[in-house]
Amino acid sequence: MKVLVIGGGGREHTLVWKIAQSPKVKKIYCTPGNAGIADLATCLPISSGDINKLIEFAQKEKIDLTIVGPEDPLCKGIVDLFEKQGLKIFGANQKAVKIESSKSFAKYLLNKYGISTAVGETFTSYKKAENYIRKTGAPVVIKADGLAAGKGVIVCETVPEAIDALKLIMKKRAFGDAGDKVVIEEYLAGEEASFLAFTDGKNLLSLPSSQDHKAIYDNDRGPNTGGMGAYSPAPIIDRDMHKKIMEEIMLPTIRAMANEGRPYKGVLYAGLMIDNGRAKVLEFNARFGDPETQPLLMRIKNDIVPIMEATIEGTLDKCKLEIDNKAAVCVVMASKGYPGSYKKGMPVSGLEDVKKMKDVVVFHAGTDKKEETIVTNGGRVLGVTALGNSVKEAISKAYLSVSKITWNGVYYRKDIGQKALKRIELSPKLKEKAGKL
Ligand code: AMP
Ligand code: GLY
Repeated sequence: MKVLVIGGGGREHTLVWKIAQSPKVKKIYCTPGNAGIADLATCLPISSGDINKLIEFAQKEKIDLTIVGPEDPLCKGIVDLFEKQGLKIFGANQKAVKIESSKSFAKYLLNKYGISTAVGETFTSYKKAENYIRKTGAPVVIKADGLAAGKGVIVCETVPEAIDALKLIMKKRAFGDAGDKVVIEEYLAGEEASFLAFTDGKNLLSLPSSQDHKAIYDNDRGPNTGGMGAYSPAPIIDRDMHKKIMEEIMLPTIRAMANEGRPYKGVLYAGLMIDNGRAKVLEFNARFGDPETQPLLMRIKNDIVPIMEATIEGTLDKCKLEIDNKAAVCVVMASKGYPGSYKKGMPVSGLEDVKKMKDVVVFHAGTDKKEETIVTNGGRVLGVTALGNSVKEAISKAYLSVSKITWNGVYYRKDIGQKALKRIELSPKLKEKAGKL
């Protein structure tokens, strides 16, 4: 088979790495890819948004399967357009992707079908939104309706902060059209987790649980980023919670989407807040998470290509995932200044040393090759991912590897996985179960 992967971040390197292990696959292309992906696939300078060029390429090269990483091409309808040309593609179609691209639609869906989420309302009028904030008080969360590169959600501790956030989104239009509408919702306390499942529109095949670290600084301080690290499994999602999430959130959601005339195929990602044994939906994404994909795919033993084909063909009920009992931890190494501005082009050293380590993979995100040297080319640069017999071992291995890699202006969080460790140490029962989901 010839496979095309669209995107060029850590998630896409992980997908390419996993697909390259499939005996079914002879050749992989990636657009635009990065320096790490280039070791496994032929990278082409076609942007993820240039759908006409991508179709032209897929037709010319007779690509058997295309896999979409980021949300932008999904929102532009890449899946519908490929399918129209008879090209096989893995991802949510334009109607289904609305679950990610419109927070007000997601809220409408969750409320209509009684799926647990934060209490909230949607506004198109600034004045009405302001009145609602004054009435409900703080803490409160203000969300731009549309896609805003992960920056459109502002958690506000006070009413004046919330009004400022509202002005930023609706009046100053900091996120453009994405702020024509806002969702204002109650602040939820608890622990966040990511829950991903393949779905063919009827059947669900859940991936292991995982947890992201969205804030830039240790102890979840500072502005949100795309994600500074992740681990799997997330001990907060034990067997009972896993079952509850499948029965009360994931299954009702794909049924609701079908009922709304938006049948969902691909991978569905629910961002959850878990508190006191209850999970509530914070958001949905219509794609693999980044960096959750890095630890998740390190733990999946199956060939992922037949799973993706079954997702497209509607035969997921015949598939089963085989999960490694080991834990996986991914530490994102970033450019100093991210998620704000940062320098590019810094030579990266130490990668060869880490290549020799067992159960460690360095997934590239923002990297490029200048002559024979790998240089930084983005905010998130590398996702150093390790497997271990316990979360503790995986953390040690990941950080040992991180310590060998450096560049001028490297930054990474020092506490990836600590939340999982604390939870496991709190509960002897969890200690027993750790690594099983
Ligand atoms: P979202 O893109 O909706 O997942 O929001 C981004 C981040 O904002 C989440 O990962 C949470 O950390 C935080 N967040 C979103 N909604 C809420 C909420 N209702 N209560 C508390 N934190 C939230
Ligand atoms: N890690 C968060 C996301 O992929 O949206």
